[in-house]
Amino acid sequence: MSTYPYHLDVEAIRADFPALARTVRNDKPLIYLDSGATSQKPVQVLDAEREFYERHNSAAHRGTHLLGEEATDVYEGARAKVAAFLGADVGEIVFTKNATEAINLVAYALSGPGRLQVRPGDEILITEMEHHANLVPWQQLCERTGATLRWLDVTPEGRLDLDHLDSMITGRTRIVAVTHQSNVTGTIPPVAEIARAAHERGALVLADAAQSVPHQPVDVAALGVDFLAFSAHKMLGPYGIGVLFGRAGLLEAMPPFLTGGSMIEVVRMEGSTFLPPPQRFEPGVPAVAEAAGLAAAVDYLTALGMGNVAAHEESLTAHALDALREINGVRILGPDTTKDRGGAVAFEVDGVHPHDVGQVLDELGIAVRTGHHCAWPLHRALGVQASTRATFYVYNTHDEVDAMADGIRYAQRFFGARQ
Ligand SMILES: Cc1ncc(COP(=O)(O)O)c(C=O)c1O
Repeated sequence: MSTYPYHLDVEAIRADFPALARTVRNDKPLIYLDSGATSQKPVQVLDAEREFYERHNSAAHRGTHLLGEEATDVYEGARAKVAAFLGADVGEIVFTKNATEAINLVAYALSGPGRLQVRPGDEILITEMEHHANLVPWQQLCERTGATLRWLDVTPEGRLDLDHLDSMITGRTRIVAVTHQSNVTGTIPPVAEIARAAHERGALVLADAAQSVPHQPVDVAALGVDFLAFSAHKMLGPYGIGVLFGRAGLLEAMPPFLTGGSMIEVVRMEGSTFLPPPQRFEPGVPAVAEAAGLAAAVDYLTALGMGNVAAHEESLTAHALDALREINGVRILGPDTTKDRGGAVAFEVDGVHPHDVGQVLDELGIAVRTGHHCAWPLHRALGVQASTRATFYVYNTHDEVDAMADGIRYAQRFFGARQ
């Protein structure tokens, strides 16, 4: 039995997640260690979506009828809930499809007309640690505008190398886009410090919070960022809805990204004018059922307490790091303590390909992710092609961590690897 303290009533939590009750691969209990890719969904979220479809289904912001009013209330209620969760104003919350679209929205807006327009010779600063979602859109922005992409390196330990932060943010830097928690190494960079340095030089700051908002308390004012992006599906919510937080004055100055219905003020054949934010960035019939599900996910996490969520994951991560360190031939990618580190634990097993590790674990009912986890440059920087990754959430237990460690030993024996 584990000696690590539980900060949450994990058994009660698990009862809320129907998927965790199923068995896999010859009737084995499912051990789901892939929440970094997408989390499981509690009944409260499923019920919220079902209730919307069963009782209120209608297009928000369109109908003059009762159902239309109710749908608008559900959608705008979700926006208010997300704003309160992040310490933001309601008008600063834009619903998108996911974190990827939220980041693209900013990258496209910065290449459009207006006072924020990026020009040839400007610089965009990112890091080598980024998920492709916070890397490729900036490469594309540079191609469109003639700006230069620069990046902060990672240290061999998987932390950000901040030695050159001051010289990397120059008077030409227009935006610094940085992850708030690595999806591979779990590293939590000092975003507030980076934001201060960026603002001193007049640069904007975007935090990719896809892996932080689900797992730790996040307050946009305390972080001091201008933009922050995340997806509902990684925080117990549904697919198809994500969030862009943007400071009000900046959203106001940004041209639209996608255009069409619901985001216009006046349309004539000669041209159109656009609504203020956030509607300016939400064309088309909105994802109201998904917003209802996201609101339920926010309620669920708020009831648990984000501090408790983070503490629970920290104890699981500490346990996993201890357990992996005890296995000969296993190398942990990234920091090997829980300091400034979240619950993504990637590793390589000497002599066993990550896909083989993943397959053996899968046969044991343990779901992990293998590959480069959409962070190819980070893997290169750490000297590996690919890795196996376990990610933890509110419903994971210490026994599941032990089962993973046993599974890795079994994989080593199975493939005759050095132990
Ligand atoms: C750190 C990070 N950023 C961005 C994303 C993109 O999220 P989505 O695919 O939901 O847009 C992910 C997803 O894995 C992620 O881990």
